[in-house]
Amino acid sequence: MSPIRTFLPMLGHTRGNRDAATCHFKCGDACAKDVCNTSSNGYFRDIADGALSRRSILGLGAAASAALVVGGQSIGASNATADTIVAPQGGGKLAFKAIAPVPRTVDAVTVPEGYDWAPIIRWGDPLFNNTAAFDITKQSAKRQAGQFGYNNDYLNIIVDKYSGRSGLLVANHEYTNEDLMFDSVWFEANKTEAAKIAMEAHGFSIVEVKRVKSGTPWEYVRGAERNRRITATTPFTVDGPAAGSELLKTVADPTGRTVLGTLNNCAGGTTPWGTVLSGEENFNQYFRGQGSASDARYGIADAATERRWEDVDPRFSARNPGYENEINRFGWIVEIDPQNPNSTPVKHTALGRFKHEGANVRIADDGRVVAYSGDDERFDYVYKFISKDKYRRGDRRHNMRLLSAGDLYVAKFAGNSPVAEIDGAATVPADGSFDGTGTWIPLTLDGESMVPGMSLEEVLVYTRLAGDKVGATKMDRPEDVEPSPVTGKLYIALTNNTQRNTTGKATVDEANPRTKNRDGHVIELTERNNNATATSFNWNILLVAGDPTKDASTYFSGFPKDKVSPISCPDNLAFDSKGNLWISTDGQPGTIGYCDALHKVTLTGSQRGKVEQFLAVPAGAETCGPLIHDRDGSVFVSVQHPGEGGTFQEPTSFFPDYVMNPSKAKRGDVYGPRPSVIQVFTKAKGHGPKK
Ligand code: FEO
Ligand code: CA
Ligand code: CA
Repeated sequence: MSPIRTFLPMLGHTRGNRDAATCHFKCGDACAKDVCNTSSNGYFRDIADGALSRRSILGLGAAASAALVVGGQSIGASNATADTIVAPQGGGKLAFKAIAPVPRTVDAVTVPEGYDWAPIIRWGDPLFNNTAAFDITKQSAKRQAGQFGYNNDYLNIIVDKYSGRSGLLVANHEYTNEDLMFDSVWFEANKTEAAKIAMEAHGFSIVEVKRVKSGTPWEYVRGAERNRRITATTPFTVDGPAAGSELLKTVADPTGRTVLGTLNNCAGGTTPWGTVLSGEENFNQYFRGQGSASDARYGIADAATERRWEDVDPRFSARNPGYENEINRFGWIVEIDPQNPNSTPVKHTALGRFKHEGANVRIADDGRVVAYSGDDERFDYVYKFISKDKYRRGDRRHNMRLLSAGDLYVAKFAGNSPVAEIDGAATVPADGSFDGTGTWIPLTLDGESMVPGMSLEEVLVYTRLAGDKVGATKMDRPEDVEPSPVTGKLYIALTNNTQRNTTGKATVDEANPRTKNRDGHVIELTERNNNATATSFNWNILLVAGDPTKDASTYFSGFPKDKVSPISCPDNLAFDSKGNLWISTDGQPGTIGYCDALHKVTLTGSQRGKVEQFLAVPAGAETCGPLIHDRDGSVFVSVQHPGEGGTFQEPTSFFPDYVMNPSKAKRGDVYGPRPSVIQVFTKAKGHGPKK
């Protein structure tokens, strides 16, 4: 095979854990660049005293205590009482025998014995009756605006109440890979149109799905009433305390309240009131900055971007007069009402601005809602937001305002074992676990900044700097942060951080105990008294990931290492109806040599810590958006960036159409890889795969 050619220049090395193209297109080569967080905020050792004195300094005693008040209607920890979300359908089970890990070059979806899989929707599939069938050689921005977008990530299927045979599939589209989307000759001659296609391939797809009955595969419905595309050009309303701020105004939007588009939407969550939240993650790579300190803290460079959208639309360069603040209008949690195709999606400034992986909501005992979110960058932080107002069952209009006002906190972790026992090799401390306590340090409280020297608006727009100032704990890339709907315990996927404990970088601590943490780990956090609004918590490490046959630094809560599936780079999290944790991975090919995967992890009883691999995605792909409908024997995943590292001319994956001879491709099929949402279901009479 000839050397792989790329249209957009890449930095060439990836520090070992993923394909160069993934680093380049997905994260803007974040791992090859300097660490953004150069703050000297305290690590762990000074925490126990530091947290207390800081709270005293900030005068937080009374207010923080007030936040602990428990009362009112007990709605409970579960999100299972959602207004519009019905429980997974049917009476089946999701019993399976773990599959063997799949070598990284295998271009197939691998599922357990007794299961089959089929795509539901693929990049380019038309959503509307007036959108043409996909033809990869005849792309346009206009067509892409009516087609399923690229690189699906977050996924939910919201089953309609009562019928169980219809519903909405909601997926976001994190980023584009021009090397795989476009013929290189066409690309060189049509860069403006290619950029516009890419803009329309970002955002969200909302599409109706139908099935014959519970447990049978879903099909998407072209031309359905609720079908919608949201892209990089769709108007969003900005709400919360920073809406209308000087920091958000541009020449095109002097009100600072309307933004065009959403970018790099990664993971997400569906709220108990049926809306979808999603995080604007690596938004920095789309903008040319001005070289300020705050730009640097967000990884924004004063240099031409690789995508060169600034050549097509002036708002993508802060050097263009009037657009200095455009970049401040990205990096938020967005909320979308998938049931109403005419609704205006919202950017919530109350939840702060950083590289949000996603957000997930738990309803506290007193009715307030708590949204958890991770900032996916090496040495960045974990946050939670507590709403001012309370959830009202059935009052959708009211509930859709809950994320508009409230208090924002950042996490500080303290270990309970002597520092000398945290050896960097993840040797379990003498007390038997990596564990300790922690505090949620307020950044905003009762509509006021809690950060000395920063206004409320500054805290929300430059939240990373606020976290630095209050001494938040530097974590190993917090990705999904999800509360269990069964127990309320919070799970934090820390995907990796190969710079941990290296020269000039933060040392190991009990919550991030491995030097050059290549494979990542997962923390389990229990709010004090299991109260979601508590300002303190207990935590422990559930697992330190890796291939236990080769890596002594792995840990599975004491479960025998010879009885677990290898797992690396935990990323997205989900739960089944029994409360088992499901973990999808992003980076296994580059670390342990296996295709990315979906694993089930038992959390309770004698099997706690048991990791069982359920599926593997094809070569080059990442497993995203897992959705576990165990009661009807179905699992759904977003297969993102299949074949990454190949090119349009020389594909390395043919998922999911598996057209091996372009001249024989069926109408709408593609020779080459295609990001797609797939379903895995139990083989049963009438459940034919739709491949
Ligand atoms: Fe888009 Fe944090 O992965
Ligand atoms: Ca300990
Ligand atoms: Ca992710």
